Amino acid sequence: MSINRLDKIICDAGLATRSEARKLIAGGRVRVDGITVLNPAFKADTEISDISVDGQTVTGGFRYLMMYKPEGVLSATEDKNQKTVLDLLPQELKKLGLFPVGRLDKDTTGLLILTNDGNFCHAVTSPKRHIKKLYEFIVEHPLDYDDIKAFDRGIILQDGTECLPAILEIDEDDPNHGFVTVFEGKYHQVKRMLASRGKPVRTLKRISVGDLSLDAMLRPGEFKELTKNDLNLVVNKNVTE
Ligand code: URA
Repeated sequence: MSINRLDKIICDAGLATRSEARKLIAGGRVRVDGITVLNPAFKADTEISDISVDGQTVTGGFRYLMMYKPEGVLSATEDKNQKTVLDLLPQELKKLGLFPVGRLDKDTTGLLILTNDGNFCHAVTSPKRHIKKLYEFIVEHPLDYDDIKAFDRGIILQDGTECLPAILEIDEDDPNHGFVTVFEGKYHQVKRMLASRGKPVRTLKRISVGDLSLDAMLRPGEFKELTKNDLNLVVNKNVTE
């Protein structure tokens, strides 16, 4: 349980100072489980209540963002020479200790989750959980049914690493285009799986993690806050639990 005063919860989430939080509450801009609360001393449990400011979810001290990672930025918190996904965030979010949940290569685009919740990150990336990830790709050479069967059996990478069975779908109208679902997260996994079939990747985009898909309204470099339901979709919990 994590019970606190409402003004403290908003302040701890980095959305406002304590006095600004009181003003937000007094202004009727804060809701707890859908009900406007005007008392800053109101106590809420951040683990079970949905708290929002101007409709934006505040999940206790923890924050969860969906970013449409653009090409050319690193999935890292900082780098001396290169731009990272953290550099795409505004100052007020940069100070919250957010980090990427897993990594996408510099040239890979698509769904990247950022959080400051280490337990959530572990739940998503733990090799034991086998959380599915869906990628869209374009490859140099056309794919065929033998590739589908090889993915289904489990690809053995060029260095001998064995991958779990994965689902390969080929675009009926364009055999250089398709989708792959993997249930683990090895280094450069999708590129290496396709390369092992002699089909080097030209472009790679992550479409979903668990049952959470990249929001079609987001443009590369944009991000949005995730709701509790979104988080449940990622870790495949029944949202009505
Ligand atoms: N697999 C890859 O090869 N690259 C990524 O960025 C993600 C998965």
